Amino acid sequence: MSSSKFEQIAAIIERDIESGKYPSNSKLPTHRLLAEELGTTPVTVAKAYKLLMDKGQLESFVGRGTFVCAASDLDHAIQAPPEDNNFNFSILQPCLELNVPALKSAYRQSADLITAPVIGYTEHSGHEVHRAAGAKWAAMYGLEGATSENILLTNGAQHALSLVIESLTKPGDTILVEQLTYPGITAIANMSGRKLVAVELDKDGLCPKALAQAIDDYQATMVITIPSHQNPTGISMPEYRKKEIAQVINEKQVWLVEDDIYAFLDDITTPPIANFAPDYTFHISALSKAISPAMRCGYLKAPHSQLHALNAHIRTNIWLVSPINFIAATQLIESGEAFRLASLQRETANHRQQLVRDIFPSVDCAASGYHVWLPLPAHWHPDRFALEAKSNNIIVTSGSYFCVGDAQPTHVRLSLMSIGNQARLKEGLYKIKALMDSDTSGFFPY
Ligand SMILES: Cc1ncc(COP(=O)(O)O)c(C=O)c1O
Repeated sequence: MSSSKFEQIAAIIERDIESGKYPSNSKLPTHRLLAEELGTTPVTVAKAYKLLMDKGQLESFVGRGTFVCAASDLDHAIQAPPEDNNFNFSILQPCLELNVPALKSAYRQSADLITAPVIGYTEHSGHEVHRAAGAKWAAMYGLEGATSENILLTNGAQHALSLVIESLTKPGDTILVEQLTYPGITAIANMSGRKLVAVELDKDGLCPKALAQAIDDYQATMVITIPSHQNPTGISMPEYRKKEIAQVINEKQVWLVEDDIYAFLDDITTPPIANFAPDYTFHISALSKAISPAMRCGYLKAPHSQLHALNAHIRTNIWLVSPINFIAATQLIESGEAFRLASLQRETANHRQQLVRDIFPSVDCAASGYHVWLPLPAHWHPDRFALEAKSNNIIVTSGSYFCVGDAQPTHVRLSLMSIGNQARLKEGLYKIKALMDSDTSGFFPY
């Protein structure tokens, strides 16, 4: 806990910034108003504002007031890389240490493949061999019909998402998403003026009936889903549900964006929805989660009718993805190393999930893939839990960041992979368990 009153007030303001009560660039209340609201003095509020200004979270302008500094929504949900004194449970990435040797070797070998044509501008957005390797990667995890003709190269899955959203919808359009979803999607929508509408999830993922109804109600033309090891709920759609969703998409003739970045974590491959609705589905895969987010290698399989528009969009924004990273990616895929690393990460994740089941035997959490969607006891609000954990050097992600619409957060998300050392991971999990069980009555009022 913060020691003095003004630090406690600063922590409350920080939490309110993180939860969106005070969005980026918004004006904060005057010292006097906030002091009245929080039952303290204007001087204490002034000291709290000063503390947050020093931390770069607020800025003050003479005569205009105090404002929240601009930041991407993602900055809050995904926090700084792990530091030695932190238990960082907030980043969904592979156990990087396991992949370093293979990655070094791939980049070394790639150096020999650098030729003049490879390092120049290409007419098409990406070289054919690199697109063919992307087709091979996605096919390994069940995607049918991918070829070098219909695969586009992107700077990771995030770029693929923004590319599809910005190419196929306009500002003001409504996009349907899972009621709890990856904040990277929310960030794109907020920045580009698209509206997100939440569709109900059940234990098997997106509900087909609710989806069909929402398409009609909101005249939506795009749906985005994360069918495998969903971020954040951990739900994986069974094949029957994927077929039901495909049927809705085919009947309603709307675009489906299938963000299948975690498909490689399935123990038994389930075919993606794209196989059942190929004319309307944009299927996204990437090497970020199996190998390294630093490679920025994403693959987007698009319906033939949209390839031209998407290519034009890529050229306009970035000309082309860096072929140098895709040489290494192709090397890893063609040699089979990429698949070996993906299996290694899957086994590590499975092993760590077992650890969670051992430490939290009575907690019914959707534990799957790289993360755990941990329900909190009723006395904990997830925002306050995340804040309290942070003051104990434990970084977890509050459920608030994933809520769309009126959904009320009751969980926190824990990544099991961003702490490399297993003993330290275990220590961190025990600390989280102790915090969950602790009494909150002595804390500053929420
Ligand atoms: C569901 C989902 N999609 C996309 C991304 C972004 O991936 P990339 O690093 O390939 O841009 C993430 C990252 O956490 C994610 O969880």
